[in-house]
Amino acid sequence: MGKILTLLFFILISNSIISSAQDCNTYTFTNNAIFTTCVTLPVQNSHLHWNYHPTNGTVDVAFRHTGVSASDWVAWALNVDGAGMVGAQALVALPDTNGSVQAYTSAVTGYGTTLQRSALSFDVPVIRAERDGNGDVIIYGTLVLPGGRTSFNHVWQMGPVSNGAPGAHAMGSENRNSVGTVDFVTGQAGAGGGVGGSLLHRRNTHGVLNAVSWGVMMPMGAMVARYLKVFKVANPAWFYIHVTCQVIAYGVGVAGWATGLKLGSDSEALKYTTHRNIGITLFVFGTLQVFALLLRPKPDHKYRIYWNVYHTSIGYAVISLSIANVFKGLDILDPEKKWKNAYLGVIITLGVIAAILEAFTWFVVLRRKNVEKEQVNGAYGANGYGRHNGHNSTA
Ligand SMILES: *[C@@H]1O[C@H](CO)[C@@H](O)[C@H](O)[C@H]1NC(C)=O
Ligand SMILES: *[C@@H]1O[C@H](CO)[C@@H](O)[C@H](O)[C@H]1NC(C)=O
Repeated sequence: MGKILTLLFFILISNSIISSAQDCNTYTFTNNAIFTTCVTLPVQNSHLHWNYHPTNGTVDVAFRHTGVSASDWVAWALNVDGAGMVGAQALVALPDTNGSVQAYTSAVTGYGTTLQRSALSFDVPVIRAERDGNGDVIIYGTLVLPGGRTSFNHVWQMGPVSNGAPGAHAMGSENRNSVGTVDFVTGQAGAGGGVGGSLLHRRNTHGVLNAVSWGVMMPMGAMVARYLKVFKVANPAWFYIHVTCQVIAYGVGVAGWATGLKLGSDSEALKYTTHRNIGITLFVFGTLQVFALLLRPKPDHKYRIYWNVYHTSIGYAVISLSIANVFKGLDILDPEKKWKNAYLGVIITLGVIAAILEAFTWFVVLRRKNVEKEQVNGAYGANGYGRHNGHNSTA
């Protein structure tokens, strides 16, 4: 099985390498320009072609975005001092009403930009853009690379035109992941490299930590408490398993929660308010549960029943909110479909197991009650019989 998967994986990878190489190298530019290096960028059907001139530190680039609608703008940018959108030194292609494409430069200073014309922090002696017959938009530019550097963070984007100016682009995963690094000498382009890449990495770490802790371990820990308790042999083992499971889940969960807070404070442009508020509520509830453990009355204490109700209801609230928030997070992170399906599969499996154990628990509890009732009845019957006998004897 493992070998077959590995084989499939390699077939998949080599296919995508071959197809991207074809996309890159077989394209014929209208003016028959030849670019010696080409990389296919990881998202948004884009390619970057270039010739680097070491003698004067310039690079001739052709950024090609395939399949662009005639009413969309396209941009590609180096971010010299930072990463991502703010600080991007952009080459912009803006469609004209007469069908031609205008090209100009725009230094992006904030998230509210409309990509106004402005000079960049480095010279761009040549810039033009065109739209070919297939709907590929190509921006040609000659850049005088700043500071003798040859390796940069870059971003690329497309969006709709509104009132003759570039309007805000969509916020899908392709739009959020169109960041990376490019090295004009080695010809390497990192998928989501640089600060942007580490952002994606941090978001993934946040997702995995929280999905595993809040989203899987805590429901499992609750199932241990509810369904293991029924077996007399599992007493008090169920308690220690439950506590261990939840304390580990809480530890991992708090780490995941902290990464989420950091992500939230770093994300100026995008606020995921609901996801964040559920996360904070979960942290509060989770912490209450840990304190509840330390403050629980003895099993025979008269307040223990209230504590049980409290602990169980907060516990169920935590589980429901956790699962809901993992799905919310998956919608935000928007990874490949398989991750959402995998989590859904885990939750459904846990749900089915819980349903079976629930039925089994009821069966065991009811049977125990019946047995107890029979014992009581039996005892009463014996008594009654005795009394009856006695009565008889006195009669
Ligand atoms: C840089 O050098 C290349 C050849 O090495 C030349 O073709 C190009 O025109 C030069 N560019 C500038 C802006 O000087
Ligand atoms: C299209 O219009 C722009 C001005 O808005 C002009 O500069 C350009 O030459 C026109 N292109 C064609 C092909 O007519």
